[in-house]
Amino acid sequence: MNIASVRRPVVPPTPPRAPDDMSFLGRVALLRQNMIATWGQRAYEEDVIKGRFFLQHSFILNRPDAIRHVLLSNYENYTRTPAGIRMLRPVLGEGLLIAEGQAWTHQRRTLAPAFTPRATANLVPHMTAVLDETIAKLDTQTGAPVDLREIMQRMTLEIAGRTMFSFGMERHGPTLRNFVMEYGERLGRPYFLDMLLPVSWPSPMDFPRARFRKRWTEFVAMLIAERRAAGKKDGAPPRDLFDLMDAARDPETGKGFSDEQLVDEVATMILAGHETTATTLFWALYLLALDPDTQEEVASETGGEHLDSMADIDRQKLTRAVIDETMRLYPPAFLVARSARDKDDAAGVEIGKGDVIMIAPWLLHRHEKLWDQPNAFIPKRFMSKEAPDRFAYLPFGAGPRVCIGAPFAQAESVLALARLIGAFRVELADSVPVIPHGVVTTQPDRSPPFRITRR
Ligand code: HEM
Repeated sequence: MNIASVRRPVVPPTPPRAPDDMSFLGRVALLRQNMIATWGQRAYEEDVIKGRFFLQHSFILNRPDAIRHVLLSNYENYTRTPAGIRMLRPVLGEGLLIAEGQAWTHQRRTLAPAFTPRATANLVPHMTAVLDETIAKLDTQTGAPVDLREIMQRMTLEIAGRTMFSFGMERHGPTLRNFVMEYGERLGRPYFLDMLLPVSWPSPMDFPRARFRKRWTEFVAMLIAERRAAGKKDGAPPRDLFDLMDAARDPETGKGFSDEQLVDEVATMILAGHETTATTLFWALYLLALDPDTQEEVASETGGEHLDSMADIDRQKLTRAVIDETMRLYPPAFLVARSARDKDDAAGVEIGKGDVIMIAPWLLHRHEKLWDQPNAFIPKRFMSKEAPDRFAYLPFGAGPRVCIGAPFAQAESVLALARLIGAFRVELADSVPVIPHGVVTTQPDRSPPFRITRR
């Protein structure tokens, strides 16, 4: 069946594909601005592309069986790359995203109960409260052009703050955003030596990164101290993620987190969660503005209801499909990279010790062999009976290191999109294309003005 037989689907703009013979230096220069633009047509057509990543051999894997091997069957053979650790450690410390081996097992086991769909359901009231406020604010801005990207960033930060600490982010939100911007715009981008040197050798940018880390951890520790001062009533159920994380114990060893570890875990959860979800919501709103018919269908699905529970969220099947399709076309984590500890055979791909493995959701999700009309926005493909191959659709990664916040992010994105589209008709106020840039996450190259009107 042709999944797009009824009307011609929207094909949103993308950066031009790099010429396959682009020079090494040309690629390196482009890498810092937009990694997505460094990939040529071959990367969207071939199963495995062998190349070099600085001094190492590298593989782009587009074959689900080989990806399954790396992320699941033999995942212990693959670690984060030196460049990835260098970029992330100053902000995430030794938190879950960076940890390896025993330290990772302990953290994942300890944190898992706080991130189950059931634990997430208890956080939905925090999300709906922020959404009510966002919609009330937007009500005062109908007609005039609005920057929905910025509004989504503020909203997801507010949700991250309230679900974590139960307090609003009006006082600390601007400082937190400044930290995020400062890091993302300069220190979080890879420089030549960052990629060349092993992690144990400092690169020139590691010095300002270390200074940043000191200020950042002091800030997060201050947030935790404020939250502790607000206290917890004895015997009362946990109010927020902080209560859950503070009380969490490893089911096997009975150990909880030290104060220092808690700073890294809290930093990880706030940072890993809010920008990725804001990006998803921005692109979903952009796509629905380009596709008014689908937007109307989403609006009628919500039926103007005040959605406020997990059961309500689960009923929004089309909205969920729009979020899934948005994360197919614009996966916030456009690249999942690994470095091989030892040589391996990944479903027939011979990998050497130290080789860099690139699993790029951006490429995989638009691969010619894996998808029908790969560049078109067709949410209903996620409503058909044939689910996409688990290892061809990876917005949250896969295997033991799959995103721990996926149930949270999915609930938040579906709830927010359903509520926003249920309340407002969303259009673009200009017709300049918005081009995705792969830097840290899949960001738009500009914040287009939107126009919203009350339904
Ligand atoms: C749309 C939103 C999100 C996207 C697209 C996303 C994507 C991802 C991906 C692809 C990974 C796997 C990385 C790898 O294997 O190298 C990951 C891991 C992770 N994510 Fe998310 N994420 C999102 C939201 C969140 C939220 C809301 C949280 C926390 C509240 C979170 C916390 C984490 C953590 C801690 C890990 C590391 C897990 C581990 O290594 O055990 N993420 N995420």
